[in-house]
Amino acid sequence: GWLRYARIKGAHGYHNKLPSAIVTLNATEGLPVYTAGQELHQGIEGIFGKKLELDTGRKKGKGKGKGQHGDTTATVGTVAAYVDSNPSAASDLPELVDDGFYLSVSRGNVLILGQNERGALYGAFHYLSLLAQGNASDFTLTSNPDAPIRWVNQWDNMQDGGTHGSVERGYGGDSIFFWDGKVRDDLSRAGQYARLLASIGLNAVVANNVNADPKILSPENMDGLARIAAAFRPYGVQLGVALNFASPRDLGGLDTFDPLDESVIEWWHDTTDELYKRIPDLAGYLVKANSEGQPGPMTYNRTLADGANLFARALQPHGGVVLFRAFVYDHTSLDEDKDWKADRANAAVDYFDGLDDKFEDNVVVQIKYGPIDFQVREPASPLFSRLIKTAAAIELQVTQEYLGQQAHLVYLAPMWKEILDFDFRVDGKPSRTADILNGKRFNRKLGGYAGVVNVGTNTTWLGSHLAMSNLYAYGRLAWDPSSTSEGLLAEWIKMTFSDDKRVLDVITKLSMESWPAYENYSGNLGIQTLTDILLGHYGPNPASQDGNPWGQWTRADADSIGMDRTVWNGTGFAGQYPPEVAARYEKIETTPDNLLLWFHHVPYTHVLKSGKTVIQHFYDAHYEGSAVAQTFPRLWKTLRGRIDDERFEHVLFRLEYQAGHSLVWRDSVNQFYFNKSGIADEKGRVGNH
Ligand code: GCU
Repeated sequence: GWLRYARIKGAHGYHNKLPSAIVTLNATEGLPVYTAGQELHQGIEGIFGKKLELDTGRKKGKGKGKGQHGDTTATVGTVAAYVDSNPSAASDLPELVDDGFYLSVSRGNVLILGQNERGALYGAFHYLSLLAQGNASDFTLTSNPDAPIRWVNQWDNMQDGGTHGSVERGYGGDSIFFWDGKVRDDLSRAGQYARLLASIGLNAVVANNVNADPKILSPENMDGLARIAAAFRPYGVQLGVALNFASPRDLGGLDTFDPLDESVIEWWHDTTDELYKRIPDLAGYLVKANSEGQPGPMTYNRTLADGANLFARALQPHGGVVLFRAFVYDHTSLDEDKDWKADRANAAVDYFDGLDDKFEDNVVVQIKYGPIDFQVREPASPLFSRLIKTAAAIELQVTQEYLGQQAHLVYLAPMWKEILDFDFRVDGKPSRTADILNGKRFNRKLGGYAGVVNVGTNTTWLGSHLAMSNLYAYGRLAWDPSSTSEGLLAEWIKMTFSDDKRVLDVITKLSMESWPAYENYSGNLGIQTLTDILLGHYGPNPASQDGNPWGQWTRADADSIGMDRTVWNGTGFAGQYPPEVAARYEKIETTPDNLLLWFHHVPYTHVLKSGKTVIQHFYDAHYEGSAVAQTFPRLWKTLRGRIDDERFEHVLFRLEYQAGHSLVWRDSVNQFYFNKSGIADEKGRVGNH
């Protein structure tokens, strides 16, 4: 990944700006401050070839200034440890929230203080990331995370045919956690993963799939989970566990899993206590209930709040939180032909309706960014604007399920930023998604981010080197959603590849063009990713969208296309937004072209704001998007010799594949709509050849 600590150009010239020794305050081996010391030692040696003295035995800090070790010192620890030995410094230190850090660099004297141990490690990683980008200048910085929940979800299965654990929607190999139905003996990759995540400020990982196997809570597997938590702990990453709602019955042998049944409540309390005995710093639970065939409270006519609170109460004595997913819908009963008003997009708001004041304080509702399912373009989920008292986290997907499965380069930060910056105008006031998540808009303590990442045993982690920019950007945006897509990319490129200007320019160009290109050739105007819905969510198959109960419909017929989600004539989804936004989406004239077919059903001959018809826009966009993808391998080849051969070839292979596959996308989608509509392409490219 980006933690290469590769030697930079002119490394020796920096030596007088670097500390000569590292002092850790109250460091305990296996905890983050100790790790921070090791990391600084390793990093500075790698980046500059300078080996520092490392003093981990120090109980008390000497503070800034000259130490006994030579000229300059990097001191790292918690604020409390520092103030303990320098009481007079207390008044000069800034306010930090949990996980925040203070960093000051002054002529080689470095002070890195975390509000907690984790914060100290984040500060050390931040300093190292600047050094790796060739920046050793003096500065002071106070950095606090925007939101407390900065989690990763892995969709790892415990077993697959009795051997390796697979990863659902994972494109980077087998599970790094599970093997043969159990937790792996060798968890060194899990430790490396935690290191990578800590370096970008992520603080918890749910290691098992949301489609959870009840056996995750067997005594043997709880012991295994404790080993995963131990592998994470030096990096301040906490473990979370995904639960199967029916565990009391399917694992515990009870005859019910009704959330209001006394025996069920007792079972969850006992099981939770057992887990905390083994993992005192467990972050909490993640629950997918009543969705895609998973059991849940509604099986017993209980509400989703009854379900979430069951876990919340069991976690309360231990300080844990429950991330309860809003991805609740029934994939069996929607009928496209019979019901014009049927709409899966309505499900989350409908199911959570009336529950806003019913959740315990340690429940966080985890909401996918859009109302359907990680499509190339969706409007922000209206549920963010409907939960006022209940904490919320946004679920983003780093693994590119519908977005090319890491065989296509699609840099996602620009898409995520559109969602995070979206203003819901709740009560007519500014209400950006990011400010709802961080708790500021509705005065809430909890909230934040959950990213479905799905790394595997592949040495690239995600299966593709360039896809790692998405993981990097995810962590950084969860820490600071005001970061820019280009800025994050530049940091990542410099640390991952080099600071060569050409490398920076080319990867930036490819990445920034990739999402618009993918949208153009896979599904424009808000029609969603026109991929195969029923099989692997890969490759073009517009026909598969319709005529099934999954509800990712386009309602394309011979004359017209799009989902009518208006209140006056359609599914009513537009009305789930606060009034200003609802009014905008209700009318074709005020709906942006890029969401037209998400909200409206129109003839193929409907004229867009651009002046083109819908069908001509389809034809042109598919040509334009694939033409951009054709440029990717050519551009990449200009980097030969500027990047090591191994990574150069690995990326080139994928970009050439993407260029070819974009043509398959272009021609399949265009031909499909030509066959449906019978309308010729004005430019004569699509038709009966
Ligand atoms: C998608 C995905 C599933 C996943 C589900 C979820 O539908 O295809 O693999 O289980 O989302 O997020 O729960």
